[in-house]
Amino acid sequence: MCGIVGYVGKKDKKEILLDGLQELEYRGYDSAGIAIIEEQKLKHFKAIGKLANLRERTKDYQSSGFGTSIGHTRWATHGKPTELNAHPHLGEYSFVVHNGIIENYQILKSELQQEGTKFLSQTDTETIVHLFEKYHNQNRDAFTAFTQTIQRLEGAYATLLITEAQAKTIFFAKNGSPMLIGFEGNDVYFASSDTPIIGKATEVYYLEDGEYGYVKDGKVTLFDAKGEKSFSKQTLTTNKAMAQKDGFRFFMEKEIYEQGEVMNDTMMGRVLDDRIEFEELDNQLFENISNIKICACGTSYHSALTGSYLLERIAKIPCQVEIASEFRYKEPLLRDDTLFITISQSGETADTLEALKMAKRAGLKSLSICNVDNSSIVRESDRAILTRAGIEKGVASTKAFATQIMVLWMLTLYIAQLKKSIDKESLQSELNAMRHTPKALLVTNPLHEKLHRLSKRYLHGHGFFFIGRDLFFPLALEGALKLKEISYLHAEGYPSGEMKHGPIALADSELFTVALMPKSLHYEKIKSNVEELSARDATILAISPEPFELADDFVQTKYSSHPMLEFFEMMVVTQLLALEISVRLGNDVDMPRNLAKSVTVE
Ligand code: F6R
Repeated sequence: MCGIVGYVGKKDKKEILLDGLQELEYRGYDSAGIAIIEEQKLKHFKAIGKLANLRERTKDYQSSGFGTSIGHTRWATHGKPTELNAHPHLGEYSFVVHNGIIENYQILKSELQQEGTKFLSQTDTETIVHLFEKYHNQNRDAFTAFTQTIQRLEGAYATLLITEAQAKTIFFAKNGSPMLIGFEGNDVYFASSDTPIIGKATEVYYLEDGEYGYVKDGKVTLFDAKGEKSFSKQTLTTNKAMAQKDGFRFFMEKEIYEQGEVMNDTMMGRVLDDRIEFEELDNQLFENISNIKICACGTSYHSALTGSYLLERIAKIPCQVEIASEFRYKEPLLRDDTLFITISQSGETADTLEALKMAKRAGLKSLSICNVDNSSIVRESDRAILTRAGIEKGVASTKAFATQIMVLWMLTLYIAQLKKSIDKESLQSELNAMRHTPKALLVTNPLHEKLHRLSKRYLHGHGFFFIGRDLFFPLALEGALKLKEISYLHAEGYPSGEMKHGPIALADSELFTVALMPKSLHYEKIKSNVEELSARDATILAISPEPFELADDFVQTKYSSHPMLEFFEMMVVTQLLALEISVRLGNDVDMPRNLAKSVTVE
């Protein structure tokens, strides 16, 4: 995910920017760039790939003396990871870096293009610098022009702008994306999170949404909608490891919390007003395709299963799901009217990669859903859709799973549009529900606190059953896997209607049943399955919008008209439950025993 750094002062700007960007590497990126103004002269450098490439590009450049500077690491969302799309973006005499999404950039871009402005990149960010220069050319006052510019922007942004028109000043604005200002003597730093400035600045101010202003002569002038305002600095932490986790105890916890934000990236440019668009796909991929086979492992297999329900139900296309390690040796019958989809967070899982190679040898068209661009699976596939979850550090996958599900949901609608198997009204209601997903993923304090309290009751017993029906069966599998991975307690995911065909024999008060009971999908059916277990004295933790009197413990979720919104909300509950149980048991949440983040052996 993108990162911003900035610096105004006399120190070596190039080194400060490159070091700062290095501290943001862990967030993931595919290109980087810096821009510096010294003695009225603008210099800029960009490179795709790792920061080492940018270091190489800048090796003959020395920065010294007073100046302003900005830098950025970009994780491609709008437009491919090319040098032209990398930040900082240039106008005639100014540079800008930006995190977030300018939602109205198409309107602004057309307006500027009609007035003769030439755009070099496919990004939304470039509109900011051209708007600024348009207003500056009109009124010749840089701060007025900057203020006029940000008043035109809709959406989420954190942005820094430098200009030869006022060479000793950095302009900044924040709305919806994080940004902070660091202070040390007369030196002023900017960053999208603490880590780049730890060890450099001693005090910090975390900008609030709607705040903007400029830095001149080591002094920050801050404004909000009401006008100029004062602010108080706080002492900056010196603990880098803590800062990388954005203050959370574990990467997994941070990743659970950031799912809502990440989902906006996954949907960006793809969920449009009236349809789904994938710039990475074309009709040719679907020509002569009559069915889909999805192959994956672990958590990615669970998202594949969820996708199969959506694909068959909404897109009306037959869909089979296979565990990659089984598929490889079952001598599968493969037909060339099958689209072969692989799903992988890392893009390096040996079994999934080998399954893909088998399908290709059999002449099948292939599509991968992956979080890592240029990974082996992406390179091997005919087409790839990136999930854009950002780097996932916790070994137990959370946000990668959530974004895989979102891509599958979007892909379902994309295919339904192609096949005309969805009417306009239903498509609109799916798109509306999608747009509400980030809200369904929000973690509230009361919810987290409740799961923390509940977790102490679930540290023993002879096992857990996570049960659900339909779309909620794969979620039950995933809930059980999360718990197993980080608590080392035995847990199984099961279709709730299947319990009476065997596992109910295990039911007693020491059998913990986590029941996923969405109100929008087969509620009465699940309810009777759970009643059967309760009658055998199983301990029931019910997760539902609907109060359930037989529950021993109850986590109430929101009523929602769309099952996928219930799905995402319940997913967060199961993730937090696993996390809190693991913490109480004293386990290493981020690096559970015996597990690796990328499984490159069969
Ligand atoms: C569980 C988990 C694993 C992976 C599996 C496949 O939290 O992360 O089950 O899902 O090893 O990995 P990818 O998705 O990288 O192919």
